[in-house]
Amino acid sequence: MPTSNIGKLNHVAIAVPDLDAAARVYRDTLGATVSDPQAMPDHGVTVVFVDVGNTKIELLQPLGDNSPIAKFLAGNPQGGMHHLCFEVDDIAAARDHLTEQGARVLGDGEPRTGAHGKPVLFLHPKDFSGTLIELEQR
Ligand code: CO
Repeated sequence: MPTSNIGKLNHVAIAVPDLDAAARVYRDTLGATVSDPQAMPDHGVTVVFVDVGNTKIELLQPLGDNSPIAKFLAGNPQGGMHHLCFEVDDIAAARDHLTEQGARVLGDGEPRTGAHGKPVLFLHPKDFSGTLIELEQR
């Protein structure tokens, strides 16, 4: 299999206006295993990780003035699905393959360290059916 193929769904990220309320729903209503909130100032979010066995749900609340999810929440005040994250073996190879196919990588195209301490890239939602895609190196 070429290294540029997407792998496992690592997480689904949901932007929420009220992290405590969202975490309660996942824990108490849905019965999922929910982490304590973790502030990630470098990423402009506070995150709650929800373990659903075959993948994770990440509940994201804006943190600070320049949160990358602030604009999304302004347009989706009740919250909503923000991105999907797929694992790849080699993020640089995946990027090169995707850009050759015409997909657009956000930012300067260089991987940066994501919320799990691994290299990540984001792909333009217009190229993926309106869905922001994150790639994370395994
Ligand atoms: Co993510």
